[in-house]
Amino acid sequence: MKTVFILSALLSLAVLPACQPETPVARSGPVVSSGTAQVGGPFTLVNGAGETVTDKDFLGQPQLIYFGFTYCPDVCPMGLQQMGAATDLLGRDAEKLQTILISLDPERDTPGIMAQYVTGNGFPDNLIGLTGSVEQVDTAKAAFKVYAKKVSMGADTDDYTVDHSSLMYLMDKDGKFAAFFTKDDSPETIAKRIKPYLK
Ligand code: NI
Repeated sequence: MKTVFILSALLSLAVLPACQPETPVARSGPVVSSGTAQVGGPFTLVNGAGETVTDKDFLGQPQLIYFGFTYCPDVCPMGLQQMGAATDLLGRDAEKLQTILISLDPERDTPGIMAQYVTGNGFPDNLIGLTGSVEQVDTAKAAFKVYAKKVSMGADTDDYTVDHSSLMYLMDKDGKFAAFFTKDDSPETIAKRIKPYLK
């Protein structure tokens, strides 16, 4: 239970105010080595083709999961490029890892918008974008202990941003939480930590 507590504390600290750069607070070092934290769980979402997918669809291959939204000005693109740089270092083995972006803004991020967004420059080659109803996204967020909050930017109800934690979650081929990475982990570090899970 201690591990769960520490991880939860780290996850809640790794919050980005309105997607602005923040000071480093979370590290992916000793906390994750036990691998016992209860992160991850059942989810049902919608892929870029508008098809329903669940966590079960990804069993059999390790996954690297990031939560973000397509309107995010810089933190999400940077996180996804960091992910892309890491998977590039895996070479051909990168195909064995499914990279996934889950939207924190299901009201604006339609399946079509997600499908377009995941092709962004420097993003992982096999990145897929998942979105869904607000309830479906809330379930996924809760499973991964993701912090996200809508923040109004003006009088218009469509004018908002999303404060959110920015972490990459590595899940093993059985869908079990293996590690998380922050923006302070180099692509080299991330690739090295992922490699054993691709065997
Ligand atoms: Ni963001």
